[in-house]
Amino acid sequence: MTSPQVIDRWVRELDYARVLPLLAWEGDRIIGDGTLHRSRAEARRHIGELRIVIDPEYRNRGVGRTLLHALVDIARAADSQLEKLVFEVVADAERAATHTAEAMGFVKAATFAAHIRYFAGEPHDLHVYELQVREAQVLEDPAAYMY
Ligand SMILES: CC(C)(COP(=O)(O)OP(=O)(O)OC[C@H]1O[C@@H](n2cnc3c(N)ncnc32)[C@H](O)[C@@H]1OP(=O)(O)O)[C@@H](O)C(=O)NCCC(=O)NCCS
Repeated sequence: MTSPQVIDRWVRELDYARVLPLLAWEGDRIIGDGTLHRSRAEARRHIGELRIVIDPEYRNRGVGRTLLHALVDIARAADSQLEKLVFEVVADAERAATHTAEAMGFVKAATFAAHIRYFAGEPHDLHVYELQVREAQVLEDPAAYMY
C-alpha cells in the first residue's frame, strides 16, 4: 500500500465490522498486523478473509501463528456468522505463510495461475486456502507452540 490518501481514508473511516485489525506490539512499535475482513454482500456474510504481515525482524518467533490463532478464535465467537475463513498466499513468494496456514489446518482450495504481478515482474500463482471455522482446532495456549 503506497497511497497516503487511501491510508488516510482507512484511518478516518474505521469500521471494525468490515475489517478487524489485531496488532502485535513490542513497546511502542507495531511488529505485526493481522486482519479479519468480512464482506458487505449478504451472499458472502459467512465468509471471512484473513491477512497477516509480520515485521521481517520479528519473523519465525511465533508471532504470525499467534495472531492467526487469535483471529480464528474471534471468527469462532458465538455471535459470529462466519462459517469459513479464506487465506490467500502467493505460491512461491510466501512460503512461510503456506507453512503456517497448513500447520493450522487450512486446506488448499484453489490455485489461480499467473494471478499476482508485483510491479512489472513476472506473474505468480495464487493459492487460496480455506478453514471451516467450526471445525478449527484452537490452541489453549499458543505460547506452547513458540520457540
Ligand atoms: C507469513 C508470516 C505472517 C508468518 O509470520 P511469523 O511470525 O514469521 O510466523 P511464525 O513464526 O508463527 O511461523 C513461521 C513458520 O514458517 C516457517 N517458515 C519460515 N520461512 C519459511 C520458508 N521459507 N519456507 C517454509 N516455511 C518457512 C517457520 O519455520 C515457522 O514454522 P514452524 O513454527 O513450524 O517452525 C510472515 O512470514 C510474513 O509476514 N510474511 C509476509 C506476508 C505474507 O506472506 N502474508 C501472508 C499472506 S496475507
